Amino acid sequence: MPLTSSADSSSASPVPAVPAPSGNPRFPTGFLWGAATSAYQIEGAAAEDGRTPSIWDGFCRTPGKVFEGHTGDVAVDHYHRFREDVRLMADLGLTAYRFSVSWPRVRPTGRGPAVQRGLDFYRRLTDELLAAGITPVATLYHWDLPQELEAAGGWPERATAERFAEYAALVGEALAGRVEQWTTLNEPWCSAFLGYGSGVHAPGRTDPVAALRAAHHLNLGHGLAAQALRAALPGSARLSVSLNLHALRPLTPSKADREAVRRIDAVGNRVFLGPMLDGAYPQDLLDDTAGLTDWSFVRPGDERTANQRLDWLGVNYYTPTVVSATAEGTEPARQDGHGGGAASPWPAADTVGFHQAPGRATAMGWAVDPSGLYELLAGLARRYPEIPLIVTENGAAYEDKPAPDGTVDDPERAAYVHGHLAAVHRAMADGADVRGYFLWSLLDNFEWAYGYEKRFGVFHVDGRTLARTPKSSAHWYGRVARTGELHPPREA
Ligand code: FCB
Repeated sequence: MPLTSSADSSSASPVPAVPAPSGNPRFPTGFLWGAATSAYQIEGAAAEDGRTPSIWDGFCRTPGKVFEGHTGDVAVDHYHRFREDVRLMADLGLTAYRFSVSWPRVRPTGRGPAVQRGLDFYRRLTDELLAAGITPVATLYHWDLPQELEAAGGWPERATAERFAEYAALVGEALAGRVEQWTTLNEPWCSAFLGYGSGVHAPGRTDPVAALRAAHHLNLGHGLAAQALRAALPGSARLSVSLNLHALRPLTPSKADREAVRRIDAVGNRVFLGPMLDGAYPQDLLDDTAGLTDWSFVRPGDERTANQRLDWLGVNYYTPTVVSATAEGTEPARQDGHGGGAASPWPAADTVGFHQAPGRATAMGWAVDPSGLYELLAGLARRYPEIPLIVTENGAAYEDKPAPDGTVDDPERAAYVHGHLAAVHRAMADGADVRGYFLWSLLDNFEWAYGYEKRFGVFHVDGRTLARTPKSSAHWYGRVARTGELHPPREA
């Protein structure tokens, strides 16, 4: 059954998420208030201290792939400005920070020994966070596969999962004692299906079978990396994965449109939830894709390996996905929410149509609809009641413009986050065990194929000077983080 097919509220809540005396929703003490970023999107220093190119360095240099040929060479120079960036978070009152470790920085070319200069950056960063009272949450892989591993076949090849586990062990050993909260992969759906299916993300391949093989090796890599982390870290370490689960809606209540939801739920959500949380691929996914592959790349025991005990599950959510049984008259650009490519990111779903969800849209064209987040959290709590949840990404791009006095007022972003936090609170009141929320993103940054054209930060970054300026949403979010109370944005 699709994860988001219904949203009853029958399970009992272990989490006291209650109204404050002011009437505003109040989040429990200890709820993590964070912001999220990723290495390639913010670090820069692309050729410093031994780092070698990732698939994104190459993709950015492929004509026509990234807006105006933007690259992450300098990005927002976080590699050199991390102390200032930690101070920005501390001043807001954030209690957690989700960042990713750059594989080609700490294990150049994807093989061989770790480079201590690369690891030292993350040692310095996490020391700075801990000194500021901010909990570091490290993601091992946010899409920056070392280019040499792609040259050797990339995620469609099993060896990449094995290299990933070795890298996980090196990072785990280096940061043990500093980092307790870990995420193996960020949004493996994007790595597999945008990277190897539609080709709108690096490495830009358009081969549905390669995309399915990549999905499997990401599942396997997740399991092997989780095992490697458990071996390298103290028992107190907490492991997770961050999935961009699709909150699916049928265009109409017809049986055919509901069947389209089932098909996309299989190849969009359960392709990862199945192995990682249930220990098996769903039979309907194998049936739907039987015309493409017999899945013989799945070896006996792989699904069990993917099914490691997780201490929490990371949920990334931006907008719902509306589907219909026929693709006639629909825009290919709606297929992946990332502008659409020459090919579909959805294997064995050629007939399915993708539609703009109703409601106001952000600068990405993504409809604002917090009920999708509620449905995902409530659906996961129902299906996996034993696993705590953390919203590891949620946020919005808008066309923020500094005023003549330098201030940046972004009421839409605060309204977006307010609506989604209200949905999180409602899910908690209805029984979902949600432990934290990470706003995407701390800083305006390199938004993949959109380059620096789309701004997601609560801190504005000047494209020329790289100066950071808090937007009005940062002030509002800081107040929510400090009080644990969901004040309406206009009160900030
Ligand atoms: C997510 C990615 C993140 C950023 C946001 C807008 O899919 O994980 O890096 O691009 O979307």
